[in-house]
Amino acid sequence: MTAPDGTSAGTSDGTSDGSPTGTSDGAPGGASTGASFDATLRAVAGVEGWMTDGQARRLWDRARALAPGSRIVEIGSYRGRSAIVLASAAPPGVAVVAIDPHAGNDRGPRQITGTAAEGQADNDAFRANLARAGVAGRVEHVRLPSTEAGDAVPGPIELLYIDGAHRFGPARDDIVRWGARVPVGGTLLVHDAFSSIGVTLALLTTLFAGGRFRYVGRVGSMAEYRREPLGGVARAGNALRQAAELPWFARNVAVKVLIAARLGRLTRLLGHRDPAVWPH
Ligand SMILES: C[S@@+](CC[C@H](N)C(=O)[O-])C[C@H]1O[C@@H](n2cnc3c(N)ncnc32)[C@H](O)[C@@H]1O
Repeated sequence: MTAPDGTSAGTSDGTSDGSPTGTSDGAPGGASTGASFDATLRAVAGVEGWMTDGQARRLWDRARALAPGSRIVEIGSYRGRSAIVLASAAPPGVAVVAIDPHAGNDRGPRQITGTAAEGQADNDAFRANLARAGVAGRVEHVRLPSTEAGDAVPGPIELLYIDGAHRFGPARDDIVRWGARVPVGGTLLVHDAFSSIGVTLALLTTLFAGGRFRYVGRVGSMAEYRREPLGGVARAGNALRQAAELPWFARNVAVKVLIAARLGRLTRLLGHRDPAVWPH
């Protein structure tokens, strides 16, 4: 579905009853943009967001490795920074779906409650940024909260990136409901892991001791999991590897407390380089 101005493709907006008015044409995926990683980094340099260059590289590498017919789903797109990376890396025939209600709430750090106008500004920026990067036709945007978007996305999800609402309840719901759609061998990436309290508690109560996702590691606060069945010993090792990240989590919470208390200069004592920047 392409907007009359040609700036956005495949947008599924929520109607008044909350159901999608239309999904994309059902095609499994579009053509590759052919852009390099460095060119893509330059393309997102001016796009607001919290994804670091290292995290962009991880998204790029995991998207690039997908086979035709696979599907990428991003929960939480904001102004398109990570969606542009995923769409630019996706090989031909890989579908890219971005789920974000752009309703103004849960936009980012310390922005839990916002306004509809802020959400609409995010949506306008998202569409313009994707068009500028040449990937508007490559991304289907489902403009719904993730809790209501399940039916708008068919089939398995080989690469799931969760970066939506960071409060415990919604973050846990995204991991449980959407994570269940990642097939064995698929990848789950979660932003603000071991950094946001809500996201970390959600991980603690789902994936730490669970037997379905192996913890691969993290780039900053972007945690990577691979879907694979884990037996007893492997499961215990998996929990321990995640538990080993808890000191880093405690450090991030301390950094945030200091920044919120306007004592940002003290964060250097914890190895945090820029007191003006929230850890992510
Ligand atoms: C941290 S930002 C995402 C940043 C984005 N991944 C990037 O790299 O630029 C969080 C986004 O989640 C969206 N969001 C909030 N609640 C949501 C929900 N229930 N389902 C999906 N997205 C949600 C917000 O509108 C916001 O745009």
